[in-house]
Amino acid sequence: MTIIKVQKGTKDILPADMPIWHFMEEKAKEVFTKYGAKEIRTPIFEATELFARGVGDTTDIVNKEMYTFEKSERSLTLRPENTAGVVRSFIENGMHRLSAPVKLWYKGPMFRYERPQAGRQRQFHQVGVEVFGISQPTADAEVILMATNYLKALGLNDLSVEINSLGCPKCRETFKTKLKEVIKPYYSELCPDCQSRYEKNPLRLLDCKVPECKEIFAKSEIQEVIQSDFICEDCANHFNELKDYLNILGIKYSINKLLVRGLDYYNRTVFEITSNNLGSQNAVCGGGRYDSLVKNLGGEDTPAIGFAMGMERLASLISSKEDIKTTAFIIGNNMAESIKLTEYLRDNGITAEFDLTNKKFVKQLEKASKTAKYALILGEDELAKNEVTVKNLETSEQVSVKKENILAVLN
Ligand code: HAM
Repeated sequence: MTIIKVQKGTKDILPADMPIWHFMEEKAKEVFTKYGAKEIRTPIFEATELFARGVGDTTDIVNKEMYTFEKSERSLTLRPENTAGVVRSFIENGMHRLSAPVKLWYKGPMFRYERPQAGRQRQFHQVGVEVFGISQPTADAEVILMATNYLKALGLNDLSVEINSLGCPKCRETFKTKLKEVIKPYYSELCPDCQSRYEKNPLRLLDCKVPECKEIFAKSEIQEVIQSDFICEDCANHFNELKDYLNILGIKYSINKLLVRGLDYYNRTVFEITSNNLGSQNAVCGGGRYDSLVKNLGGEDTPAIGFAMGMERLASLISSKEDIKTTAFIIGNNMAESIKLTEYLRDNGITAEFDLTNKKFVKQLEKASKTAKYALILGEDELAKNEVTVKNLETSEQVSVKKENILAVLN
């Protein structure tokens, strides 16, 4: 019979991988909670329209990468990202009435029908933060600080922070017009994607990875427009203040005028954090401000900013974490007594196991040495004296203790 295999672009996260995943999840809770963020869990599928309106119907995500299906004549989509879902929940649950800022964090699987390669999957996991209600650049700085501190807590370094400002819809319009003007003579040489971007969303031209297009955009007259300071005074002030805060906080960054991000909801600040130890898919974190999204999805006008990180990419950078061993493995031939002692330890918060197969003493000890920190020997002698022999499996030291003192010894 043919074996059914895991789907292309998806992976099992196996028990051996878990110490790293638990570490990433625990650190997320610990770090984001310190900043006052609360965890939120939204559904994995949402109305397709949420992403079409939220992420933007000119983006690759919405055009090419969504897992969309029909049920009861409704079009549903597996979430390709979580900002749109969190915004929907923010609106639906009246969170604008809470005192600002409302800080939310999340973790969970996302789905994009992309060409799988190292660091790029069709089902992947993100951990992210969304902060609502603050328009000042202090929020931008704090959000970037949350991201960098989380990465620091994971022990990751050799990372680069890149920032850019996309301006507001007004100043961006002028930039788009100028960009189109200067690129127009090369229109027929652009790749089909760029020809479509030229019409629908010229800013995304800067994101193209096709070498021929990159060559065109490197031309001096085009670079002059790209590198120009097109943003209006208000947007420039916002960006300058953010840079000042980052300097005060000691966060090293560089400005990348080509950083436009692949989602439509951004305005003003956008940022990415890349690792110098990953291949071509080197972005571990992407984020930015999205001041119009809450309103565009039917909510009150609420400024917002956030980021998300790819957990598979983070996991590949974290040095291996040791599998957490069981604290106690009970060794004995009296099953009833072994079960009783194991359950007593578990009830008192100690991870404990006993040999379910009633193997010979030596075999049980072998199993204990592989999986536990302590072997608790409950032989005939011990049972007669109401004692347990506790063997430290790392040092081989051994002591006999009265059963009633076992918790104190293990703790
Ligand atoms: P994004 O840049 O599309 O932004 O994704 C954020 C991160 O998710 C990426 O930097 C990458 O680490 C990871 N990622 C994305 N696609 C894949 C994939 N196919 N396989 C593995 N990892 C992947 C967003 O999703 C925005 N919602 C971020 C945001 C939150 N902006 C504001 N708030």
